[in-house]
Amino acid sequence: MEESTKTLGEFIIENQNAFQYSSGELSRIINSIRLAAKVVSYKVNKAGLIDITGAAGEQNIQGEDQQKLDVYANEVFIQTLKNREIVCGIASEENDDFITVEGKDKGHKNKYVVLMDPLDGSSNIDVNVSVGTVFSVYRRVTPVGTPVTLEDFLQPGTMQVAAGYVIYGTSTMLVYTTGHGVNGFTLNPAIGTFYLSHPDMKFTKDGHIYSINEGNYIQFPQGVKDYIKYCQSEEGDRPYTSRYIGSLVSDIHRNMIKGGIYIYPTSSKAPKGKLRLLYECNPMAFIAEQAGGKASDGFRRIMEIKPTELHERVPFFCGSYNMVTKAEEFMLKAS
Ligand code: AHG
Ligand code: MN
Ligand code: MN
Ligand code: MN
Repeated sequence: MEESTKTLGEFIIENQNAFQYSSGELSRIINSIRLAAKVVSYKVNKAGLIDITGAAGEQNIQGEDQQKLDVYANEVFIQTLKNREIVCGIASEENDDFITVEGKDKGHKNKYVVLMDPLDGSSNIDVNVSVGTVFSVYRRVTPVGTPVTLEDFLQPGTMQVAAGYVIYGTSTMLVYTTGHGVNGFTLNPAIGTFYLSHPDMKFTKDGHIYSINEGNYIQFPQGVKDYIKYCQSEEGDRPYTSRYIGSLVSDIHRNMIKGGIYIYPTSSKAPKGKLRLLYECNPMAFIAEQAGGKASDGFRRIMEIKPTELHERVPFFCGSYNMVTKAEEFMLKAS
């Protein structure tokens, strides 16, 4: 069997000039995420053997019970980014407020902010099902040399300079974009190196998988109910197959490889949706668009939404281009 020989490290160096800003800072951010991903991957793989499963005993600002791995992954990613003096601010699902990073000479000289969901799919940790990490990188909008402000984090997704995810699955993969397509790297755990395994990843234009938590069906908007019935009806290439893991990263990753749509709509339980615009939807939307797919809130392009708060939630429709467009048609018809 032929094995990929290009490492993520080599890929980053080769593509540095293709980055919008080639000061090397963005490359160093990706390098830090690579390192933190390896540390978390190692821990995730030992879940069950060490005391890392179960609840941590605290709630986060989302009102969710934090899991031990939520807290651990959050620490690892924050410390790795802080230690390397490369970002001026970090926002995370697990922190109420953003973190200001002064930098080595306390001069606030760094240019980028990172927003992240350190551990996605928390509810799957204890049952040995894939979890992930999602990240998004922006260039600050306030002047270098001053502390970051909320404004640096509340940028529309179109301003992202990089985004990606790590999936801790049957193997650990790091998938990311800097706006020049999407590439996936698989970790060889024996030597701790990521190799380019999925170059230029693309969503097929159409797909046969729909992923939604149908347990909430009764609470969904009429457009979503109608679209689900469309997916299930016997016509043309339908019915589609239903697949739902309950880890956004894993559900999107599968659908990108196989072709499909992921929906987390509004419901009476979650009137604004559940997923967070800044560190779940925007990075996934950037990846989806770069892979030829589409991401919407049912009516608008996700990446054009102007955020108003850090932990803002939005409904999310993401995946194969024609499938998302079809779902939007149903939303419009029922509105
Ligand atoms: P997180 O674990 O980061 O809080 O995210 C959970 C999200 C996402 O991973 C997943 O797609 C969704 O919640 C599942 O929600 P339901 O259990 O309501 O379907
Ligand atoms: Mn959570
Ligand atoms: Mn999440
Ligand atoms: Mn999370």
